[in-house]
Amino acid sequence: MVNLSTEFCGIRLSNPVMPAAGPPIRDGQAAIEAAKGGAGAIVTKTISAQGAKVPRPCMAEPFRGGFLNTELWSELDPEIWLAAEYPLVREVGLPIIAGLGYTEDDIRQLVPQVAPFADAFELSTHYLGGDTSPVERAIRAAKESCDLPIFVKLSPQVDIPTFARAAEKAGADGIVLINSFGPCLDIDLKTGKSVMGSDTGYGWLSGKAIFPLALRCVYQAAQAVDIPIIGVGGISSGTDAIKMIMAGAVAVQTCTAAILEGPTVYGRIVKEMESYMEKAGYQSLQDFHGLALKNKPETATMNPVTPQVDSEACTACGICARSCAYQAITLEKIAFIDADKCFGCGLCVTRCPRDAIVHNW
Ligand SMILES: Cc1cc2nc3c(=O)[nH]c(=O)nc-3n(C[C@H](O)[C@H](O)[C@H](O)COP(=O)(O)O)c2cc1C
Repeated sequence: MVNLSTEFCGIRLSNPVMPAAGPPIRDGQAAIEAAKGGAGAIVTKTISAQGAKVPRPCMAEPFRGGFLNTELWSELDPEIWLAAEYPLVREVGLPIIAGLGYTEDDIRQLVPQVAPFADAFELSTHYLGGDTSPVERAIRAAKESCDLPIFVKLSPQVDIPTFARAAEKAGADGIVLINSFGPCLDIDLKTGKSVMGSDTGYGWLSGKAIFPLALRCVYQAAQAVDIPIIGVGGISSGTDAIKMIMAGAVAVQTCTAAILEGPTVYGRIVKEMESYMEKAGYQSLQDFHGLALKNKPETATMNPVTPQVDSEACTACGICARSCAYQAITLEKIAFIDADKCFGCGLCVTRCPRDAIVHNW
C-alpha cells in the first residue's frame, strides 16, 4: 500500500493533489465538489480588494492540450467570499490555501479578514510586473498581518531563481509555480476575430502545452531556494504529478484539467500516482522527491547512442519509422534501427505508444 501523504509548512495533506486558482474553485460549492472529487487540499480562487470585471468570452481551447483564458481574479467581491463562500469552504474540512492578490495594500487589507478561514495564503503576483520589489512588499505585508504560511505564486515569465530567492528572503514560506503564460492569441476562422473578449484580444495559455515550462520552473526554483514548492501548469495525469515531485515539488495543483474534466480529476490523478508508484516500487513521495535534481547532468552528452527495440513489446505499428527524420528505421516483423543512419536523437523512444524502444544513453 503506497502512502501519498505529504506535510509542508505544518500543513498535512492526505494526498498532494489540489485545485489551482480558477473556475473549478470559484466559490464554496465548487470547493465542496473538489473535495468530493478527491483533492488533498483546497486552494480558493484569487480574490482582490474588489471583484474583477471579467471580459467575455474568457475561455477557449484552440487546440488539444492548449487552453486560453482572460479571466483575471474572482468576479465576487471580498464581502461575498467572507459572508458566504469561505464559511462553506471551511465546512469541507480540508486544509485551505486562500488565494489573494495583488498589491501590498490589497494584501494588508485582505489578510486579517480572510485569516480565520485559511490555513495558508497564496499570493498571486500576475499583475505585479517584472520587478521583484512589489512582490517582496506584498509578502512582507502578508507576513506582518498574520502568522499563517505565505506562498507566493510566480509567473513563468520572470527570472525564476531571482524571484524565488527574493521571495524567500522577503519571508515567503513557499512558492507556487507557474501561472499561465502569455499574452497569446487565437483567431476564430469564421469571424476573423480573436477568440478572447479582452481589450487586446489576447489571452493566457495553460494546459498540457505549458507542462514542460512549468516543470523547468519548478526544477530551477528547487535549486535556488530551500522553501517548499508547489508545482502547477499542465498537470493532467498521475505521471505528470510524479514528474513535478521528481523536479522538487512537494505537492501539485491543476486548473485546466479540472475545467475540462470536472472535479473527479483530482481523485483520478491520485489513483494514477498510486498505481505508478506501486509498479515502480515507491512507497512514499519521499522516495522520489527531487530525484531529477540528484540526477542533474553536469555536462551535455555528445555521443549518439542508438536505441534498442524490445522485440516482445514492438508491434511494428510504424509510428517510429514515419517520424524518423534520419530514415534510420525500417519495419520488418518488428522495427529495425540502422545504427549507421541513426542520429541518436531519441524521438522514436518518446513516440512509441508501447514503450518498446529503450535508450540507454
Ligand atoms: C480560466 C482560468 C482562470 C484562472 N484564474 C486564476 C486566478 O484567479 N489566480 C491565479 O493565481 N491563477 C489563475 N489561473 C492560473 C491557474 O491557477 C494555473 O496557474 C495555470 O492555469 C496553469 O495551470 P493549468 O495548466 O493546470 O491550468 C487561472 C487559469 C485559468 C485557465
